[in-house]
Amino acid sequence: MRSSPGGQPDRAFPTAHEDWDRRWRDPDERAGWEEPDQHVQDLVTELKRRSAKDALNLGCGVGRHALFLASEGFDATGTDASSLGIEQARSSTLRRGLAITFQVEDFLDLSFPDRSFDYVIAWNVVYHGDGTIARRVLDQVRRVLRPGSLPGNDALVAQHRLRRRQ
Ligand SMILES: C[S@@+](CC[C@H](N)C(=O)[O-])C[C@H]1O[C@@H](n2cnc3c(N)ncnc32)[C@H](O)[C@@H]1O
Repeated sequence: MRSSPGGQPDRAFPTAHEDWDRRWRDPDERAGWEEPDQHVQDLVTELKRRSAKDALNLGCGVGRHALFLASEGFDATGTDASSLGIEQARSSTLRRGLAITFQVEDFLDLSFPDRSFDYVIAWNVVYHGDGTIARRVLDQVRRVLRPGSLPGNDALVAQHRLRRRQ
């Protein structure tokens, strides 16, 4: 476990993932989070037009957007602080015969090298922290986005679009 600058131990993840563990365990709670949002479906044509290939679904929950992107031919990766969410996402991946990498990971400390992805989606995720946390997540998103391969790489973050500077 990390320590804060004041020496007090931090929880492993500074946000509400325990509550999400509880919710992802419950089939009724999961039911509303299984279909990809229409906005994300609508983006696929544009992503393909831009030759995007590698997509990260940050705070993926039970994986609905990673599953959707993989079914559309993208190389999808999903991360979430909730191990229960990741477990569900992996089961759905197997059931649907897809190949997706899912890992338990804090959105403040992504393990991926710089410039790993053409597209990052964090849908209803960044608001789990305060303003400082949101800025730190956006820094991580900027870091893992790949510049140059697209005219402007997009990250859909809590329903806002962030355009990486070239
Ligand atoms: C409202 S749910 C959205 C799930 C998914 N994006 C979707 O739209 O289906 C928020 C997700 O953020 C995850 N989360 C909260 N804090 C996190 C953190 N520090 N790092 C990674 N994920 C986190 C929760 O575990 C939960 O799965």
